[in-house]
Amino acid sequence: MTEEITVPKGLANVVVDSTSIATTGSSGHLLYRGYRAIDIAEKKKFEDAAFLIVNGRLPDEKERNQFTESLMKQMSLDSTFINVIRDIKEKDIMRNIRTLVSAYHYRSNDVDDLFLEMEGKLPVFSVYTSMIYDGKNIENFSGDGFSDAFFRKIGKKIEFSRSYEKLMILYMEHEFNASTFALRVAASTLTDPVSAVTAALATLKGPLHGGANSEVLSYLGSIHSRDDAKNYVEQSLSSGKKIMGFGHRVYKKKDPRAQFVKSELQKIAPDHEKFKAATYVEEYMFEKKGIPANVDLYAAVLMDYLGIEEKYYLPVFACSRIFGWHAHYKEQVENNKLIRPAAQYIGPEERDL
Ligand code: COA
Repeated sequence: MTEEITVPKGLANVVVDSTSIATTGSSGHLLYRGYRAIDIAEKKKFEDAAFLIVNGRLPDEKERNQFTESLMKQMSLDSTFINVIRDIKEKDIMRNIRTLVSAYHYRSNDVDDLFLEMEGKLPVFSVYTSMIYDGKNIENFSGDGFSDAFFRKIGKKIEFSRSYEKLMILYMEHEFNASTFALRVAASTLTDPVSAVTAALATLKGPLHGGANSEVLSYLGSIHSRDDAKNYVEQSLSSGKKIMGFGHRVYKKKDPRAQFVKSELQKIAPDHEKFKAATYVEEYMFEKKGIPANVDLYAAVLMDYLGIEEKYYLPVFACSRIFGWHAHYKEQVENNKLIRPAAQYIGPEERDL
């Protein structure tokens, strides 16, 4: 029998495979194919970042325009499928997109084309399910690229579309996070991309992963001073409750994405109440427990400032992260080995029935 290796629970710090897509880096920076993610967010468009993540290099202008055009062509739905959404009548957007991604009839069998269809459809599933549920009229998507077209449907302060685009870029990829790992486990069975993305969406939904961003606002609204922040942190810690938007498996001192979004807020919304509240909680959490804010804390504040309703926070994350999943699906399949760990059995001894 081959020798078994016992690893820490949750696979913390266990290197399970190699990747050339992204790393949280020895410098403390998140790198996309070697480039600092915050530099890409500051200087590049969403499509540049997505092309880079998927193809391993930045596009030239012609390639970017072609990519943008093909992506935006996918941002619509035919009436038959709109009727499927009407029949489902589900309020929760994340549940809807998980269902609709697997229910949709894709036109292609090619992996990249299939991902392109899913990538273009995801914002449409998100917006249309919500509008149909609320009895509103649905309208076509249009705008200056994928991110802008999506933002125009869900945001209010359209003049800050670039700030939204930066956030979308920072959400795009994060090496072996839980949803990506779930996707890679699925891909390792050589299942199809739609099934693998469904597994990833189901995993992203949990509050310890993507779901954290939509839980941040529920407590920030009640914090108006440093004292409120202190009381909230004290009470949560003493009752053993995790504070959403704090802590990270990889970033133990600082999440560079959180600090980038914080500096964006400092520029565009220094007096926003929830921004101030977030900084108070961040200060006290760090002083008390040494736990840094993660990207979800300031992402939630930014989306709130931009006029995006909380129901969209997690779908926004999913609509960006799918480009990372696309790259990981291909990387896994191109150099595949079935992911199937062993378990330490702690049940009853063998017994006669
Ligand atoms: N609030 C309060 N305490 C926290 C905390 C949080 N958000 N995150 C970590 N801690 C504490 C843990 O209770 C633990 O304390 P202990 O050593 O006294 O038992 C210590 O910090 C280590 O935490 P642990 O849960 O072991 O870290 P992890 O790497 O397994 O977990 C997360 C990482 C993200 C799951 C965890 O930090 C968390 O649940 N955060 C809140 C959810 C969130 O914001 N998720 C989005 C991530 S981008």
